[in-house]
Amino acid sequence: MRVETRLMLGDCREKLKEIPDNFIDLIFTSPPYADSRSNTYGGIKPDEYVEWFLPISKELLRVLKPTGTFILNIKEKVVNGERHTYVIELILEMRKQGWLWTEEFIWHKKNSYPGKWPNRFRDAWERLLQFNKQRHFHMYQEEVMIPMGSWADKRLKNLSHTDLVRDNSRVGSGFGKRVANWIGRNKVYPTNVLHLATETKNRNHSAVFPEDLPEWFIKLFTREGDWVLDPFMGSGTTNRVAQRMGRNSIGIEILPEYFALSQQSIQPVLEVPEQLMLLEEKEPYDAHPPE
Ligand SMILES: C[S@@+](CC[C@H](N)C(=O)[O-])C[C@H]1O[C@@H](n2cnc3c(N)ncnc32)[C@H](O)[C@@H]1O
Repeated sequence: MRVETRLMLGDCREKLKEIPDNFIDLIFTSPPYADSRSNTYGGIKPDEYVEWFLPISKELLRVLKPTGTFILNIKEKVVNGERHTYVIELILEMRKQGWLWTEEFIWHKKNSYPGKWPNRFRDAWERLLQFNKQRHFHMYQEEVMIPMGSWADKRLKNLSHTDLVRDNSRVGSGFGKRVANWIGRNKVYPTNVLHLATETKNRNHSAVFPEDLPEWFIKLFTREGDWVLDPFMGSGTTNRVAQRMGRNSIGIEILPEYFALSQQSIQPVLEVPEQLMLLEEKEPYDAHPPE
């Protein structure tokens, strides 16, 4: 199978215009955070963040397929001792633009070391906001199922009366609350909390995210041959993972030195034998919290 990766050097506010309407299946990106990394690639002032982002999200809405998904990795910074509200404001404005705010995933940074400030503890999680164009979008939930784990042996051995009786009154999971439905199964659906270590090799970029992060969302929201977009590509993590997984992708990066990093590690066109792609399936991701 032929996998295409288009890397674009430039400002995504301009470069996005080159992408056709309704073309992309998954947008996965981590934009520059407000002001926080101004030494490396110019921050945007927290008070101006929403105004800066909205023309970009408008273009993203145009290029995304109706069945597609936009995952935005973002976290508000602390300004004058309190959390700034630009992420909350951005969600409200994007809804006015036509986006549905479908879900919020949490990336728990497993390897975050302890720390303390006078009024807060070390920040060990980030948001991944999920936006869609419509209520019905492609989602391949079986692709991210996880091993049931040892809790099941204990839990399923001693089932109560309630466990054996289906109770659909409050949950819409399809399984209801009938715990007995899980007997004989060895995989379960994960939660919306991902326990992943942060990237320790920085690949000459100060804000690289771990490959497991885009990989999980690419599995969940796309199939081989689909198109993935990262408009703030950085060192090209999203695109490299997309290519390895047989997805076509587009990446946009404004700084030539980061663009060069992606170019070094990603081929524009890759012929991947179908059998090789099957062999590259990794061990299932461990979504259980650390002990
Ligand atoms: C948080 S980093 C992304 C890191 C990336 N996820 C990785 O793993 O390497 C954001 C990137 O967006 C780039 N950037 C900032 N403004 C941009 C713009 N207007 N258009 C395209 N890229 C931009 C920055 O240079 C930076 O490399």
